[in-house]
Amino acid sequence: EKGTYPHFMLKEIDEQPLVIRKIVQEYRNEQDQIKLDTDIRQAMLDTDRVYIIAAGTSYHAGLVGKQMIEKLANVPVEVHVASEFSYNMPLLSEKPLFIFISQSGETADSRSVLVQVKKMGHPALTVTNVPGSTLSRESDYTLHLHAGPEIAVASTKAYTAQISVLAILAVDTARAKGIELDFDPLQELAIVSSAMETLCDQKEEIEKIASDFLETTRNAFFIGRGIDYYVSQEGALKLKEISYIQAEGFAGGELKHGTIALIEDGTPVFALATQENVNYSIRANVQEVVARGANACIISMEGLDQENDTFVVPKVHELLAPLVSVVPMQLIAYYAALHRDCDVDKPRNLAKSVTVE
Ligand code: F6R
Repeated sequence: EKGTYPHFMLKEIDEQPLVIRKIVQEYRNEQDQIKLDTDIRQAMLDTDRVYIIAAGTSYHAGLVGKQMIEKLANVPVEVHVASEFSYNMPLLSEKPLFIFISQSGETADSRSVLVQVKKMGHPALTVTNVPGSTLSRESDYTLHLHAGPEIAVASTKAYTAQISVLAILAVDTARAKGIELDFDPLQELAIVSSAMETLCDQKEEIEKIASDFLETTRNAFFIGRGIDYYVSQEGALKLKEISYIQAEGFAGGELKHGTIALIEDGTPVFALATQENVNYSIRANVQEVVARGANACIISMEGLDQENDTFVVPKVHELLAPLVSVVPMQLIAYYAALHRDCDVDKPRNLAKSVTVE
């Protein structure tokens, strides 16, 4: 139940620090090492290419997962939208491993792919919040998100749980391959959890951002580079699905190839700056839109922040930055929807789990 919360979405945003702690507990053994099913470990060692299949927010988590698995474990990863993969399967590698990411475990588009790849005899792992779900039952292995029931249609804590579990999987694979890492995901996730708590205590400040940037606008843009680009797509999805403001996430460098034509006086542009290697170039993109009149909101990470940034999130490991930068995005979407009197938990035309193709 909602308890004292006005909406499930707000409650579920606030639950994120606890969910991350729970995941750390569940995936840690007595020696403080990662605890993971040895069959899953073996499947990651045996594959020559991982295919992540998902929809919506889970797809966005998959994009972050790709970066982590490739950068940490050195295994190639492709991420596909389930409904596209289903009708237009790409050429597969010799030993593919399929990872289905699904909060509900019931998404029909993802299931359709699962049925096809099982017929072809390929191994499948489902990362889900519902262990007894269809996708979990029909795949070879399951990784549980431990996020607790997610009721609001807009997915929040499942997204951060998915990224956390994928980080653990990536590091486990790296270690199994003998790759030396200076990255202890369990420790880093504990830092993330505290950072999320700090962010959840900054609701007034974030609500003011929603008022300052989104009160009357018809559209909004989200930009980022690298991992920040993936989070900008998630930020845009959150905003559009609950506030009905037209929103799109773009790669910072791609703007000038067309989209910048849409920037007018006062157009809100949310820019994420949490990655050191692109901190300079994303800020150059911000200058480009500001020069055309955009109302730019820069959300940066401590250590990379500059004077006049709108909001600064606490520092965490770069690969885990989405876990903290998404929190202000979720809250901005929440308050924008609230200010427009939208039905936050049950937006129009949407169902919590999409069981039709
Ligand atoms: C967005 C949202 C949807 C789901 C998508 C996949 O907030 O909730 O985009 O992420 O329908 O659902 P699952 O993860 O249950 O397969």
